[in-house]
Amino acid sequence: MQNDAPVVTTDMISNNVGIDEKWYEFSWYNSFENPDKVDEIKKYLEYSCASELLSNAVPCGKSLDIGTATGRYLRAWARLGYDSFGIDISSDAVSITQQQLVKSGLEAERVQKMDACGLEFANDTFRLVSCMMGTLAYIETPQAAMHEVARVLEPGGQFVVSNWLTSNPELDFLVANSPMHNERLRAQTPDPAQLMRSLSDAGLVPAKSQYAVLLPVQTILHLVTSHEGEPAGFLDRVALLERNVRNLFPRRQGQIFVILAQKAI
Ligand SMILES: C[S@@+](CC[C@H](N)C(=O)[O-])C[C@H]1O[C@@H](n2cnc3c(N)ncnc32)[C@H](O)[C@@H]1O
Repeated sequence: MQNDAPVVTTDMISNNVGIDEKWYEFSWYNSFENPDKVDEIKKYLEYSCASELLSNAVPCGKSLDIGTATGRYLRAWARLGYDSFGIDISSDAVSITQQQLVKSGLEAERVQKMDACGLEFANDTFRLVSCMMGTLAYIETPQAAMHEVARVLEPGGQFVVSNWLTSNPELDFLVANSPMHNERLRAQTPDPAQLMRSLSDAGLVPAKSQYAVLLPVQTILHLVTSHEGEPAGFLDRVALLERNVRNLFPRRQGQIFVILAQKAI
């Protein structure tokens, strides 16, 4: 799968050239939407962690997923009852997400091509904004994007953001990624403390944080090989196993960290 990844040069990393068209194109989105089993587990564990952090939030408002890629969180928030929207800077992402939305019975217009650093929405529009799975590392000026998040959130609205924990020696990015993606992520991902500071600078108040993908890589591989044929509820059982590991080993770090921040009322 890695061989199908987009071809990029090292120049692109330092100059931020062609983030939209070169880093992400159909082959990556296709691998992401139809993932390798290990990637599927990581995506689900991240989603479970984010949902847990949001569990006390009151739904029914509008939500926005930034860097929505294939519309994974746009659709997830819709399932939770949000009036859900998404944006992505890549045309391929927008067209793939539109197809996924239609398959899920949602309107294609819920996703738009837009830069996270210049959101075309009025102030105080959304109750929930998300920016998941390391997307911040690809945004040229993440601080500008966080200011935009603070602007478009309703007072009391929540921002959920997730990034790879690059300091974790066990970190193993998505199988769908090319080495160039991983190099970019290692170079541009903020650590949790930096991100907390950036959120505060943007006027958001970090409220909760939690690691996801705490299960050791070998355990994930074992789960994949020993559960061929995917019995019903397999991913939920993996998420339950992860919750038990979190409870038993509260100091264990994960491959991903998820932060929930709030806009002051
Ligand atoms: C790692 S993928 C996102 C995965 C997705 N958030 C998920 O969790 O399923 C990163 C996405 O960010 C998008 N992106 C990069 N820079 C952006 C920007 N400035 N504004 C909006 N989207 C951007 C890319 O086009 C790509 O689709």
